[in-house]
Parts: sequence; structure tokens; C-alpha cells
Amino acid sequence: MSKKKLYIACIGAGYVGGPTMSVIAKHCPEIDVEVVDVNKDRINAWNDSNLDNLPVYEPGLKEVIQKARGRNLFFTTDVKGAIERADIIFISVNTPTKVYGEGKGMAADLKYVELCTRQIAKYSNGDKIVVEKSTLPVRTAESIRRILEAEDSKHSFTVLSNPEFLAEGTAIDDLENADRVLIGSDETPFGLSALEKISSIYEHWLPKERVLKTNVWSSELSKLTANAMLAQRVSSINAISALCEQTGADVAEISHAIGMDSRIGSKFLNASVGFGGSCFQKDILNLTYLCRYFNLPEVAEYWEQVVKMNDYQKNRFANNIIKTLFNTVSGKKISFLGWAFKKDTNDTRESAAIYVADKLLQDRAEIHVYDPKVNSEQVIQDLLYLQKYRFVNNHDFESLPEEEVRDLVKVYNDPYSALKDAHAIAILTEWDEFKSYNWQEIYDNMHKPAFVFDGRNILTRTMMSKIGFKYQGIGSAEL
Ligand SMILES: NC(=O)c1ccc[n+]([C@@H]2O[C@H](COP(=O)([O-])OP(=O)(O)OC[C@H]3O[C@@H](n4cnc5c(N)ncnc54)[C@H](O)[C@@H]3O)[C@@H](O)[C@H]2O)c1
Repeated sequence: MSKKKLYIACIGAGYVGGPTMSVIAKHCPEIDVEVVDVNKDRINAWNDSNLDNLPVYEPGLKEVIQKARGRNLFFTTDVKGAIERADIIFISVNTPTKVYGEGKGMAADLKYVELCTRQIAKYSNGDKIVVEKSTLPVRTAESIRRILEAEDSKHSFTVLSNPEFLAEGTAIDDLENADRVLIGSDETPFGLSALEKISSIYEHWLPKERVLKTNVWSSELSKLTANAMLAQRVSSINAISALCEQTGADVAEISHAIGMDSRIGSKFLNASVGFGGSCFQKDILNLTYLCRYFNLPEVAEYWEQVVKMNDYQKNRFANNIIKTLFNTVSGKKISFLGWAFKKDTNDTRESAAIYVADKLLQDRAEIHVYDPKVNSEQVIQDLLYLQKYRFVNNHDFESLPEEEVRDLVKVYNDPYSALKDAHAIAILTEWDEFKSYNWQEIYDNMHKPAFVFDGRNILTRTMMSKIGFKYQGIGSAEL
């Protein structure tokens, strides 16, 4: 008798659901994987025959999609059908910071998780394994289980935690060669058997020893802790960068010197304009909220400082541009190289560029943007969204009317047009291509003095000064 085919459904076709399920489908041809989303445009883009139109840009993603899509990987809006067919359901929906009500600006908004849990209960036609792939507050599995059992008493549900550790920009490599996969389960026979099932999926391409098995709560909290620790390193080196600028020390030299200490290690020690992305800030704020909830105010304050330092760094960068340009940027052309929160992604969520632009717009600067993967409407929408929810970060800023934002912010398809006649250039994303531009030509076409504020330290002071630029990196100053 042939073995029954295993079906996986993943709810949420975003930056995590899409790449993660594509890699599973690629390595497990005998498993059918359906990725479902309520966002029709996103699903259409995942199904686009032109792979340049995929909704997520990640190096190597196109090749994986090409291999598996239509074979055992499917993108659909049919949530009901996918749940019915599935043995295993991954929840990979967004869990943003709440922008209203109790926990506003701190707690994770779990409405999407709750909604899809209720959909799972409503459409389930048999026993299901439900896997948390989204990043969730510790003990969320308990709430998911309670909702499932209350809504559907006919079937049995086993809830596991399997947080995702991929980093955008290197997602495919991170999935293919994961340092570890973490699976948390109950120690019940159902829990342990489900855990083995999920583990066996990853064992198609990863050594068994890299699959870590813990209890559910440790698994949930490990993800928040990992992001908090990574962000903490960035804020720590950024704090030192401010001191370097006052003292003549060079933060790059310090990173190199301390990174060679095997107890410290060299990763995540690059000083910059600040971290961005949809996860670090959100997850630390969520951790902070949880600590307050469990009456641990000192622990909450400790982690909150990581976010405060990041806000300080973005603000410091923008203020330095204003101060250096003779205390006003009003009517001046400030050109931004980069808008995505890091290189090799089209994701702009919480990008430092948005905050720097917002600050400069307060002074009515003209912002001219070039990013290889971000389009014009995305830039405008990011600024309007920040203006709408700026209260979350307690900034006491003015919100500009949409027409004024559209008037002051221009986005280009070509870098040299974005940089022509600029009073200053701000580098906000570390895209490799920026390093190989013709900087002499750029200098020749700028107002003088020609300022460059390198928020990613991708260019060198010697080269830029030789051309004639007034160059400022992060964490080093000519004293
Ligand atoms: N982006 C990352 O680098 C990353 C890394 C690790 C973990 N995470 C976590 O993974 C989760 C997802 O993140 P993301 O970046 O993929 O988010 P995303 O916003 O890119 O994607 C989430 C998708 O879920 C869909 N969705 C929401 N509710 C739905 C429902 N009821 N039914 C069907 N579809 C629904 C949305 O339409 C959206 O397309 C978050 O919890 C995040 O913290 C993200």
C-alpha cells in the first residue's frame, strides 16, 4: 500500500512564509506545500510567470521557485481548501507592534494570529498539527490551543513552536544552511510525535544534530531573545561610535580589535545609522512589554534601552546633516542612496532611511532617493505611515500634508539623476553597487562643499577626501 502523501499549508505568503515554504518544497518533492494569503495581489505576484515580479526580493529565491512552483509548491488565496487538505499548518502571518489600545507601541498585535487560528478551527475536517512560525510572545501556543479547542471539539490539534531565524537579504542561504532549527513541543505523546514529523521535514537537507528540540515556551522565548541579543550588539557598537566621533578613536578599528576576541566574535559589530527591519524593534518592544506584564521593570528597562539607543543613532545622523549644512536644509537637495532597511532586500519596514527623511522633512529639505529595489510609491507610503503612527515612538514631530510629502520627495530609477545638483548625499543602505559608482563624476555635478554622510561606512575617507568631498562616516571624525 502506498504511503499517504503529506500536505503542508502555510498561512501568510510574506517574507517568511514564501521563502521558507519554497525551500521546504524544493527539498521535499513528495510533500505538497500550499502557501495561502488573503492578499490577492501578493499571491498573483508569487504566481507571476516573470520571476522578476516576485513580491519578495532575495538572492537565490527565483531559482528555488522555478524548481518547485507548480510541482509541489502552490500559492493560493484558497484558505479554506488549503486548511482542509493540510496535515500540518504553519502560521506565518505578521505580528506587528500594536498601534492602538492596551499595549500600544509595545505589545505584539496578535489579531492576525487569532484570526487565522479561528479559520483553522472553522475549516478543519480532521486532526491537525499547527505550527507557530510567526514570532510570538511566550505562551501564545496556549492561547492558540484554547481557541482551537473551544471552536472545534471534534478534532484534535497539536500546537508546536518553530520560530524562523532567517535574515532578509540572505534568507535562502540561511534556510539552506541553517545554524539550527528550533522546534518546541509538549512532552505528550501527541506533542512528541508531531515534533518528530516536523523534524523529519528539515532532516531532508539538514543534519539531525542541527534540529534542536525544546519545550514550547523555551522555543517561543528563544526567538525574542535571539533578536534582542543581535540588536543589542548593534546598539552597543553604535553607542561607542558616538564616543569615537568625540575622541578621535575609529569605531571600525575598535570593532576589528574586539571582534578578534573569540568570546565576543566579529559579527554584528558594524556601526551604522541604526538597525531597521520589521523584527528587531518590534520584538524588543514585545519583550519589554512581556517583562512589564510579568512585573520585571528592571529587565524591561534594560532591553528598552536598546531601542532608545537606536532612535538616538538615527536622530543623531539626521541632526548632524542639518548642523553640517550650516544649520538648515530647507530647500536643499539631499540625495539618499538606499531606502531598504539593508542590502539585498526590497523590504523597507522600519528602515533608518524613513526616520532620517522624516526628520529632514521637518526642516523642509528636498529628498531625492535612489534604491535599486524600492519603488517610488513605497517610499511615499513609508513616510505617510510613519507620520500617521509616529506617536508610537513619542516623537513630537509635525505631520506634513500628503501633497507636500509628494512635492518634497522624489524617487529615481537611476542613481546619477538622483545625485545631480545635490547639496549632500546620505548613504542609508549598504548596497554593493554604491561602492563602484563614478564618484568623481558625482562630485563634479554637486554643489560645493560636497558633503557625503556615510551611514553604512561603505566608502573610504581617503578616497572621498582625495576627490574633494567633505566625507563623514559613522564613528570616526577628523579632529
Ligand atoms: N521578515 C523577517 O525577516 C522575519 C524573520 C523571522 C521571523 N519573522 C516573523 O515572521 C512573521 C511573518 O513575518 P513576515 O515578514 O513574513 O510578514 P509579512 O507581512 O511579509 O507577511 C505576512 C502575510 O500574512 C498575511 N496574512 C495575515 N493574516 C492572514 C490570514 N488570516 N489569512 C491569510 N493570510 C494572512 C498577510 O496578508 C501577509 O501577506 C512575523 O511574526 C515576523 O516577526 C520575520
